[in-house]
Amino acid sequence: MRRNGMCPICYLKKLFSRPSNVTDVFYDKKYENGAALTPPMGWSSWNTFRNQIDDKLLKETARAMKDNGLIEAGYKYINLDDCWHSSMRDEDGLLQGDLTRFPEGIPALVSELNALGLKVGIYSSNGTFTCEDLPASLHHEKSDAYTFAKWGIEYFKYDFCHNEKISKYAPLVFSVSVAPVGGRDILTVGCEDAILYGTAKLMPDKRLPGGMYISGLDGASGKAVFKNICVPKAGKYVLTINILKKGLYDKFLIAYANEDNYCRFEIPSQKPFNLSARYQAYIDLKEGLNTISLFNPVATRADSAMVQYQYMGKMLKEASERVAKEQGREVKPIVFSICEWGLNKPWKWGATAGNLWRTTMDIRPWWKWMMMIYGRNVKLYKYSQKGNWNDPDMLEVGNGKLSPAQNRSHFTLWCMMCSPLILGNDLRSMKKEVLDIITNKELIAIDQDELGVPAKRVKKGGIDVLARPLSGGKWAVCFFNKRGEKDFSFPVKKLVSDEYVKLPSASSYSYKEVWTGKEGAFTDAITGSVGKHDVKVYILTPQKQ
Ligand code: GLA
Repeated sequence: MRRNGMCPICYLKKLFSRPSNVTDVFYDKKYENGAALTPPMGWSSWNTFRNQIDDKLLKETARAMKDNGLIEAGYKYINLDDCWHSSMRDEDGLLQGDLTRFPEGIPALVSELNALGLKVGIYSSNGTFTCEDLPASLHHEKSDAYTFAKWGIEYFKYDFCHNEKISKYAPLVFSVSVAPVGGRDILTVGCEDAILYGTAKLMPDKRLPGGMYISGLDGASGKAVFKNICVPKAGKYVLTINILKKGLYDKFLIAYANEDNYCRFEIPSQKPFNLSARYQAYIDLKEGLNTISLFNPVATRADSAMVQYQYMGKMLKEASERVAKEQGREVKPIVFSICEWGLNKPWKWGATAGNLWRTTMDIRPWWKWMMMIYGRNVKLYKYSQKGNWNDPDMLEVGNGKLSPAQNRSHFTLWCMMCSPLILGNDLRSMKKEVLDIITNKELIAIDQDELGVPAKRVKKGGIDVLARPLSGGKWAVCFFNKRGEKDFSFPVKKLVSDEYVKLPSASSYSYKEVWTGKEGAFTDAITGSVGKHDVKVYILTPQKQ
């Protein structure tokens, strides 16, 4: 059996190979688009409906969200997952909805869902196809982002199937030229004028105009900086890199201008019919002197994913700003949901690329599987922050054979961990007990707390203890029972001495338990009992001495 044209052993090796850590590269700014300042809440079609979705389902679900009070409870997004689209791009090369399941087109559906008070989400893959093998957005980032923004999309999930890794090789540049858009080159700077760092070095080749080219810009280890790019006024320019054609492999290069914007060059393997080639991209320059740095930031598999997701994030931001200008309205930011299943340690770079990142493989409504996801995600608490969140995947509350206690725990743990709350059940036909769980006001308030500080697991065992500070001088402490019915008693001083939780020392703590509504006060220890696979969550308020 051959997978993706690879021999079985090579395929397995690739599948299980560990990505090395992300190289410390060029771009470490936090991704900010004004969206998802608290974890996003909504519904997605995937967990229940998979590839069987149409406009009728979406409209009925939206109606159910309104009638059930879910919109009011905070569930704002309604997300089309995979299979919303046709296998055929339209005559302009743009994505379009499945022609017979969404016959009125996606924009009409978006308007209708918006009218009910919902924001609409959509899905694609950072690959040549989606996970269901439909057209996807790798190499179409700009136009697809623009299409979505024009349709009024406000949430975008970007998967990882059919991904192609960016090459760690860089082209051999011998000069760069700059031209105003619609004009001819106004300057060309040869590589002899570049300042070289790391492995970058000048190599002789008499056939080239200046007799030299730069090699060693590969694998995040070398950089060439051109400081003398002087243009008469600020604006968009065409940057041409002139390269020596050599090497039967793809190449990649970033040109970073003045530390505030960049463009990229994806260069295929080269046929040496000619000595040189020209590659072009737009770049923003300021009036007067500019600095352009050339390098390839990709050394590892993780770098490649990071650079690709960062690029899509940038395209989404630019598209939403462009559309706002064109339509003369406020920017509708697009929540950017990175979904590469935790393969490339996205918690380390996700906050520079998007608003949330999946930390694990796909969730299923199976208790043991869910526990695996919880076990991994809970360790990553330090990486979530306001506007950029760990995503342990969409909710399965109400799906499969999860018991009421398991549904409660699943929802509670996700809220404690500041997770996105994206429902995945059939909202048109759910039991009251499920609706009660997903609309529990106090749990939602924990998830959405404005401090945005996820819980730390302060004790691991038969009963896990999770704690987090909340705004307004409150703390949430959760007891999660993984085994049989149990009593617990947890010393408050452990939360007081914990550097992360920082519960103030007090003579007593008043509490409310959010599932039973019970109120009272603790002094030295939090005590109670909790059933198998169930949870208790106490909101504590320290009492002044
Ligand atoms: C991947 C994602 C899922 C879902 C499917 C769609 O498996 O992780 O959440 O979007 O693709 O095909």
